Amino acid sequence: MEVNFTLERVKETAAMLLDKAANYKVFAFHGEMGAGKTTFIHALCELMGVQDVVTSPTFSIINQYKTNDTIDPATGAQVTGGQTIYHMDLYRIRDENEALNAGIEDCLYSGNICFVEWPGKAPGIFPDETLHIEITSVNDNTRKLKINL
Ligand SMILES: Nc1ncnc2c1ncn2[C@@H]1O[C@H](COP(=O)(O)OP(=O)(O)OP(=O)(O)O)[C@@H](O)[C@H]1O
Ligand SMILES: [Mg+2]
Repeated sequence: MEVNFTLERVKETAAMLLDKAANYKVFAFHGEMGAGKTTFIHALCELMGVQDVVTSPTFSIINQYKTNDTIDPATGAQVTGGQTIYHMDLYRIRDENEALNAGIEDCLYSGNICFVEWPGKAPGIFPDETLHIEITSVNDNTRKLKINL
């Protein structure tokens, strides 16, 4: 799947990804600085029922969110919250060893949904079933999302 999107369509694009990737737990977001990884992950978290995502610190390596009760926009069905979501940013991690010490691996294999920025910093610790996603900048207003789905 390959799709171009603007800032106004981030949520819509995120919903499409969630729909296609329903079986995945670990989502690895590759892309340069400023590509739009955090923006996209925040949209995914909101869609999943996280309410405090905008107030979360952007500098921490591991952010843990809890989902609230929400309505599935596609089906209108009530979705029960209480689910844990990890948003990890490995930018400041140097290698696999530092990732292990920071507790990244524990999160990746916890069975909870994980959204990870800069996975290339510690490629060896990711589960085989990780969904790798690439975000690139097309121009100032447009980004491209690429996935093998
Ligand atoms: N789809 C998009 N279209 C246009 N601009 C976008 C889009 N997504 C994000 N941006 C803008 O790009 C900038 C950087 O976004 P963001 O912080 O999400 O990037 P990042 O990939 O997480 O960067 P970093 O690697 O530094 O963490 C922000 O100003 C954001 O508003
Ligand atoms: Mg970021």
